[in-house]
Amino acid sequence: MTINERAPEDGDTSFANVSDRLSMPLDEAMMTQRAVRKVLPDPVDDAIVLRCIELALRAPTGSNGQNWEFVVVTDRATKAAFARQYRRVWALYGGIGRRMARGDASMNKVLDAVQWQVDHFEEIPVLVIPCLNGMKIPNTIPLPDIAPSSFFGSIYPSVQNLLLAARAMGLGASLITLPLWSTIRARRVLGLPRSVTPVCIVPMGWPRGRYGPTTRRPVGDVVHRERFGDRAWRDDATPSD
Ligand SMILES: Cc1cc2nc3c(=O)[nH]c(=O)nc-3n(C[C@H](O)[C@H](O)[C@H](O)COP(=O)(O)O)c2cc1C
Repeated sequence: MTINERAPEDGDTSFANVSDRLSMPLDEAMMTQRAVRKVLPDPVDDAIVLRCIELALRAPTGSNGQNWEFVVVTDRATKAAFARQYRRVWALYGGIGRRMARGDASMNKVLDAVQWQVDHFEEIPVLVIPCLNGMKIPNTIPLPDIAPSSFFGSIYPSVQNLLLAARAMGLGASLITLPLWSTIRARRVLGLPRSVTPVCIVPMGWPRGRYGPTTRRPVGDVVHRERFGDRAWRDDATPSD
């Protein structure tokens, strides 16, 4: 499995040169896709970003509403506006994270990578901002829990497709939300109408670091058979007849 892939060795980062990589085996892409926050400032071909979004659009949406909008940002001033938001929120969250991660080397490594992204946000070549078009129902109206689930669930499958396409083509990408702390400000910066909700940001660029493998909980720890609590596939499960 190729896990140390970087920007193309020959330096040719054109769509024509990297699009073949989309034939990467699905399990390899899934196993090695991870939050790659440290990226080079070199530009990313528009065709690569558009292909990632085109593949994102193969994802499901509630009632097949396809009520998604994607804003592609390369303008430094726009990126700087989000960088200010990110820095403000990270000053609080990062501090809490550092206190909680005391002595935990791998957690501190993640926090260092986030800090790098926060500090270099304007230099990241592309931000893709997935949005949902359609009014979010206000919290004041009593609705079943699936209402927000259906709303946000209509964008996140597409975001995962986007991340996998980026990974396959060798682009570093991550899914982040903290720079969107103030939706009002994000709407103003991007010129979004009130009916369009920005959901997250996917900063993209050619990676400085490495891809996967990722660390995840074992499948047997999170799967329950028939009813919650029967972790039948956990390593230490007692076989039932
Ligand atoms: C809803 C959501 C919001 C996130 N927001 C941020 C964020 O604001 N900043 C950040 O650095 N990472 C953010 N992440 C990324 C997670 O920290 C990351 O996916 C997780 O640590 C796993 O990383 P890995 O795939 O590299 O193992 C977010 C992820 C999700 C799913």
